[in-house]
Amino acid sequence: MKYELTNRPRRLRTSAVLRSMVRETRISADSLVYPFFVVEGENVKEEIKTMPGQYRWSIDRLPELFDKLKEAGISSVLIFGIPDYKDEIGSSAWDENGIVQKALRYIKKEYPDMYCITDVCMCEYTSHGHCGILCDHYVDNDKTLEVLAETALSHVKAGADMVAPSDMMDGRIAAIREVLDENGYVNVPIMSYSVKYASAFYGPFRDAAGSAPSFGDRKSYQMDFHNSREAMTEAALDVEEGADILMVKPGMAYLDILTKLKQKYDKPVALYSVSGEYSMIKAGASLGYIDEMKVVGESAVCMYRAGADILITYYACEIAQLIKEGVIG
Ligand code: PBG
Repeated sequence: MKYELTNRPRRLRTSAVLRSMVRETRISADSLVYPFFVVEGENVKEEIKTMPGQYRWSIDRLPELFDKLKEAGISSVLIFGIPDYKDEIGSSAWDENGIVQKALRYIKKEYPDMYCITDVCMCEYTSHGHCGILCDHYVDNDKTLEVLAETALSHVKAGADMVAPSDMMDGRIAAIREVLDENGYVNVPIMSYSVKYASAFYGPFRDAAGSAPSFGDRKSYQMDFHNSREAMTEAALDVEEGADILMVKPGMAYLDILTKLKQKYDKPVALYSVSGEYSMIKAGASLGYIDEMKVVGESAVCMYRAGADILITYYACEIAQLIKEGVIG
């Protein structure tokens, strides 16, 4: 014998049964969350130009979506509202007859088993598109805390099972926890967008939600993508303030951050694979450059391998299907 190799890692790759026996990452549809957009009006199912296959739904058309999610085995959603009325302070965000509040009441009545998480932020509701209340051209942190807390409370009153603040103001977890507790909602968890970067990967979402800032950018509140230690500070503050789940966003390009968070904290960590990631795969596949489902399955597994306990993705149904078929999982 010419080569006396003690270790041959290929030995454990010789059959499909063996490969799946030694698999290190196991995933299930239980941890998938599907984000969607709800709009005012009737009979609206409008495809989002920059996100083919994703729609803005009016409440009366939601059964089509929810039946599909149920069928796919998806039991949690993340709700984004697109209001008709916007003003300087984003007042329709906490209106009890706001779009998210109405959608929640409908979903909780018709689909009581669906776990409803709401995105708590001001950018879809403000006329200027920033995530808070302006003082000149600067988003005023502490004034914004009040409206965020008010908004979170109104979501919970309308039936939200969990709230997910995505604004990146300092102190918002404490502010929201306090108002929920004062009102008796001690068991409603907060999933914090703890580490949310100022990212061009949100481009298609801003088209979908009509929430692009009318001037400037979000760099004075969302994080600089050059930074990693700062992510630990953000997470530490959220844990101290009572966050139940920590989220990293965007997904694919930020898996190093996810792994660091997972290693340091014993809270569940969520990853949000955002609109730009979805749209890039769609675009590449439509040009025939990549195999859509293979890339979707592989990237989902990689996100879990990096440490995600929860994956928020527009591809939730497709990933659930791949798991069902045994292609991944
Ligand atoms: C609201 C919010 C955004 C996203 C989630 N919540 C947009 C932003 O911060 O500009 C992006 C989600 C996605 O791109 O899929 N602040």
